[in-house]
Amino acid sequence: MQLSECRVVLTGASGGIGQALVEQLCDGGATVLAVGRRMAELQPLSERFGERLRLVNADLTSSAGRQMVVEATRRLEGVNVLLNAAGINRFALFEALDETQIEAMMAVNVTATLQLTRQLLPLLRSQPEALVANLGSTYGSIGYPGYATYCASKFALRGFTEALRREYADTRVRVLYIAPRATRTGMNDSAAMALNAALKSQCG
Ligand SMILES: NC(=O)c1ccc[n+]([C@@H]2O[C@H](COP(=O)([O-])OP(=O)(O)OC[C@H]3O[C@@H](n4cnc5c(N)ncnc54)[C@H](OP(=O)(O)O)[C@@H]3O)[C@@H](O)[C@H]2O)c1
Repeated sequence: MQLSECRVVLTGASGGIGQALVEQLCDGGATVLAVGRRMAELQPLSERFGERLRLVNADLTSSAGRQMVVEATRRLEGVNVLLNAAGINRFALFEALDETQIEAMMAVNVTATLQLTRQLLPLLRSQPEALVANLGSTYGSIGYPGYATYCASKFALRGFTEALRREYADTRVRVLYIAPRATRTGMNDSAAMALNAALKSQCG
């Protein structure tokens, strides 16, 4: 699939990795439906790319928010890529997390991603070629102290991706799991960055 033929729904578009993806995709000629809540973060890119970048302000943990994304996807027509990059993290020992923080991580990283993917698959399947790519993490393969819930969510996303890839193996929909290493974005607070530095993790 050429970038110029890609019509992409990108969640997490307002985040550090998301904004870089918007830039690369739009520069390569793709049309992007960028989903997030902090629209101000996307304003400069919106001015730069005009019609090629459409914004949807939606909370993916609510079914109303996801429905807004589905409707915007239908309006765009011909969407052939879903990039699930929305995610949250909290670096803390497991017992230090409260009920709400655990629920929120699982809701954004797992439930919302699965629900949105299920809703968009019929539109993707109607295209000659399509791709679902889920942004996981190296923490989706390594259980790491300080990241127990985040690891649980990314292990779940990796399992989901593997099963879905096999389920759609005989269709025109490809399913990928992408696992970036530590990346310097708003997701990593100063404690997480200090841990990365102490471990000599190269941070992109
Ligand atoms: N940074 C890293 O070291 C790293 C490493 C490996 C994998 N990852 C993964 O890469 C992806 C992007 O991470 P990032 O570093 O770019 O993080 P980030 O800068 O914190 O961005 C997170 C994105 O998720 C969106 N989001 C969170 N909750 C949402 C909700 N309820 N509804 C809609 N959107 C929501 C945010 O949108 P709003 O804030 O606008 O709501 C934002 O666009 C995540 O899946 C993350 O787990 C990151």
